[in-house]
Amino acid sequence: MKVLVLGSGGREHALCEKISRSPQLETLFCAPGSDAISLIAHCVDLNILNPDELARFSKKNKISLVVVGPEAPLAAGVADELKRRKIACFGPTQRAARLESSKAFAKAFMVKYKIPTADFKVFESFDKVARYLAQTPERPVVVKASGLAGGKGVFICRNKKEALLSAKKLMEDKIFKEAGSCVVIEEFLQGPELSAMALIDGESFVFLPLSRDHKRLQDGDLGPNTGGMGAFAPVSVSAKIKREVNAIFKKVLRGIRQEKMDYRGILYCGLILTESGPKVLEFNCRLGDPETQAVLPLIESDILSFFMATTRKRLKVMRLKVRKDFSVCVNLVSQGYPEKIKIGRPIRGLERKRQEVQIFHSGTASQNGKWRTSGGRVLSVVGTAPKLSDARRKAYRTASRIFFPGMGLRRDIASTNTKGDSHGSL
Ligand code: AMP
Ligand code: GLY
Repeated sequence: MKVLVLGSGGREHALCEKISRSPQLETLFCAPGSDAISLIAHCVDLNILNPDELARFSKKNKISLVVVGPEAPLAAGVADELKRRKIACFGPTQRAARLESSKAFAKAFMVKYKIPTADFKVFESFDKVARYLAQTPERPVVVKASGLAGGKGVFICRNKKEALLSAKKLMEDKIFKEAGSCVVIEEFLQGPELSAMALIDGESFVFLPLSRDHKRLQDGDLGPNTGGMGAFAPVSVSAKIKREVNAIFKKVLRGIRQEKMDYRGILYCGLILTESGPKVLEFNCRLGDPETQAVLPLIESDILSFFMATTRKRLKVMRLKVRKDFSVCVNLVSQGYPEKIKIGRPIRGLERKRQEVQIFHSGTASQNGKWRTSGGRVLSVVGTAPKLSDARRKAYRTASRIFFPGMGLRRDIASTNTKGDSHGSL
């Protein structure tokens, strides 16, 4: 098979690494890819938001499967164009991807299909937000840009004043342009979070190991929300929670079928485990980052067989083989992350190959054989072992041998002291 992966981050590095192990693979392309990915795939300089350009490249190079990493190409209609030209695509169509690209749409979908989620209201004008807040009692709420904002459009607000300010930033100051012209204000929920990801083909779904990312910048779930400081898998949950999560996916599948969405790819439910059961915080139509870096090393099955089965609606007969190990992913981030970051810093310690530890590159560039930082999240160091504590130790031991000026990391990824509760400072 000739396969094209879209994206350039740590998630795509992990995807390319996994795909490159497949016995079915003939040639692996990645667009645009990165210097690290170019060591295992042919990187091609394509505009991944241009469906026509991707379809033309895929036809010309006889690509058998396109695997979409990030959400933006899905929202831009890449899957639709590939489908039209009969090229298999792992990732939902534009209409189906609205489950991620419009939080207002996702919320209406959840109400319609009785999927548990936080109570909410949708607003299309700032005046209405102001009037609403003036009438409601003082309490913490969450203000969210309805559109795609690269994971930065969610504001946890302690009170009405903060909520009004956040809505103003989105709707009047337009910090995320049109993505913030519609805003969802929702009930603030508490509890540990869980990332539940499944391959889904419109008829059935296959769960990947449950994982948890750590969104807050600092140890103890303090500091601002980030794109993710680390993750681990599998997360042990009770049989009851497993059943409840399964029931949520069944309801989503029912909705997808009823709405006649062409959904063949990953469905990611960001869940919060509240006292009254799991509730959906968000849907993503793609693999999580950094959850992918923790989850993929645990998969024993040939990943390409599963991706192809998803595009052919044959998941029902597939059984995923998963290693009985734990994996822990520690992200190394740049100085200033997640705000004003410093890049171009030399990275030491990447030369040595290490057993049972994988290093995925999110934001690096190579100059004359030397690695430098080029983004906020720089590296994901992933340790795997039969015990969670050993997987942690491996990841942290390797992380301690890597260095770049201003390097930041959390010391408590997957530790028993952190509940994965992402709003410890409220
Ligand atoms: P989202 O992109 O909607 O998943 O939000 C990003 C993060 O904000 C989540 O992972 C949670 O940590 C937090 N969050 C979102 N919605 C809520 C909520 N209703 N209550 C508490 N925290 C939330
Ligand atoms: N780790 C959260 C996400 O990928 O959206």
